[in-house]
Amino acid sequence: MGAGIVEVFARNGVDVVAVEISPDALARGRATLTRSTDRAVARGKLAEADRDALHARVDFQVGLDALHAVDLVVEAVPERLDLKRRIFAELDRICRPDTILATNTSSLGVTDIAVATGRPHQVVGLHFFNPAPVMKLVEVVRTVVTAADVVADVEALCARLGKVGVTIGDRAGFIANALLFGYLNQAVGLFEARHVTREDLDAAMTLGCGLPMGPLALLDLIGLDTAYEILNTMYRHGGRNRRHAPTPLIRQMVTAGLLGRKTGRGFYTYDKPGSAKVVPDGSTPTAAADDVPGTTAVATVGVVGSGTTAADLAAVFAAAGHQVVAVGADGPAGTAGAVRAALDEDVTRDRRDATGRDAALARITWADALEQLADADLVVEATAGELDATRALFARLDEVCKPGVLLATASSALPVIDLAMATSRPADVLGLHFCAPVRVRPLVEVVTTVRTSTEATATARAVCAALGRTTLVCADRAGLVVDALLFPYLNDAVQMLEAGYAGVDDIDHAMTLGCGYPTGPFALLDAVGPDVALAVQRALYRESREPGLAPAPLLHHLVTAGRRFREHAGR
Ligand SMILES: NC(=O)c1ccc[n+]([C@@H]2O[C@H](COP(=O)([O-])OP(=O)(O)OC[C@H]3O[C@@H](n4cnc5c(N)ncnc54)[C@H](O)[C@@H]3O)[C@@H](O)[C@H]2O)c1
Repeated sequence: MGAGIVEVFARNGVDVVAVEISPDALARGRATLTRSTDRAVARGKLAEADRDALHARVDFQVGLDALHAVDLVVEAVPERLDLKRRIFAELDRICRPDTILATNTSSLGVTDIAVATGRPHQVVGLHFFNPAPVMKLVEVVRTVVTAADVVADVEALCARLGKVGVTIGDRAGFIANALLFGYLNQAVGLFEARHVTREDLDAAMTLGCGLPMGPLALLDLIGLDTAYEILNTMYRHGGRNRRHAPTPLIRQMVTAGLLGRKTGRGFYTYDKPGSAKVVPDGSTPTAAADDVPGTTAVATVGVVGSGTTAADLAAVFAAAGHQVVAVGADGPAGTAGAVRAALDEDVTRDRRDATGRDAALARITWADALEQLADADLVVEATAGELDATRALFARLDEVCKPGVLLATASSALPVIDLAMATSRPADVLGLHFCAPVRVRPLVEVVTTVRTSTEATATARAVCAALGRTTLVCADRAGLVVDALLFPYLNDAVQMLEAGYAGVDDIDHAMTLGCGYPTGPFALLDAVGPDVALAVQRALYRESREPGLAPAPLLHHLVTAGRRFREHAGR
């Protein structure tokens, strides 16, 4: 972080004294800066002359004494309160009386650090995000004693650096980390419980949610030691929220020296310490693992339902060359209209041409009775019904479908095993959860129950691969992988809003500009609907009884009042 922050200042014309603890550490820092600026030059983002001018602005020094004449100090030493307090006490002695002292801490109390000096009114948090030269956000943390003019100066500086400063109070994890680390920690928990593999977990969040990195790859970038300290501090000083209690695996990896990219090994293995290049290791999946004998050929696909998901699925399967039998509750006409609209939209958005659309439509048979699924090789239920109605539907499918057919639900909300046990062939029943929007997102969660056969799973994966989709195989649990990680994070954001710590826009900015998320939590909640979020969160809480997963009261209130977060913010 120190090297990244040096780069941000020097790039924007500010002279920097870069201080490390030893000549070796200083050489490492200088090498990090050189690597980063050389990469920027190679990518055409920085002219060679500007890189040289940038380096000329940096004075590399060992020891804090070199900071005696600076206007501002940004501290970025390891995340330990005793160390930071010691350094701030020393800086207070060394620096000019008017120098502003800032900490880049991610989770420690800025107030606790400030009171180690004789100038707590001149101490602020200046929390940059990793990688500092790229991420636009800076959280400016004001304590109860920080002077208003100091905050104003630091805000102006952020603008000069081309950053968006969001000013907030001193609370463990501030905005972004308080929301990010609960999610990262939960992801490690899913991995530790072998609920999902390393690669599948990361694919879930990049391909299923559009996040820039998967949680395990991100933890390797942050550093497991830093992540552990951040979680531990947030847990102890942030109200002992169990979502922040570090998952035991993180501690074990830190003890074993598996700190992530910086040591060349973390959740993944890298070609050398400090490198971003992942190399195969003992956990890397092999192609042979996909080779399961006994997969069934799927030519005809039945799609049951008349909502958006059903229409999208019929469009996707037909466009990929399958014969499709679409059974809609409101008869052939209603279903056909929705599928046609989906395929028309694909043409408008250049995802396929008009000939492809017409060929796809010609492959669809519109039906209004389940009996017409007698020849299907795969049936996907997408009725969005309640459990009892869907169980009854699976019992009917069991009667009308030929033996060996794969029976799937597109739901992520119903326990698949309950549907499987409504049939006489539970080995052939699984979940196929296409992440929304179905025609766009490339990920399908293949949900296996304790009774699903390996052949059925392999067939499902082969069918999805032929659609050009990536699959991940996961256990039959509330929220599967994507929703189980996404919705609790959204719920955490609602709790933060409810606590009055930050507003809708600041929280959305923190996640888009600080973490590179495509959408902020409130924009996303409004898009999926607070009612949907509440239903998923309730299911997660019901299954786990984890207090940290209890739906936020504000979410419940907005659903009851029929309002969205944007309207609530504009009151
Ligand atoms: N890693 C992230 O993604 C991230 C993001 C935002 C903020 N932060 C915060 O930034 C700070 C640093 O984190 P990091 O990941 O860069 O840690 P790091 O361990 O990679 O770097 C810390 C550096 O501080 C140096 N150091 C230790 N004692 C020193 C001293 N007495 N004087 C001068 N230098 C000293 C070390 O040599 C090391 O190079 C922490 O407070 C962390 O919470 C980290």
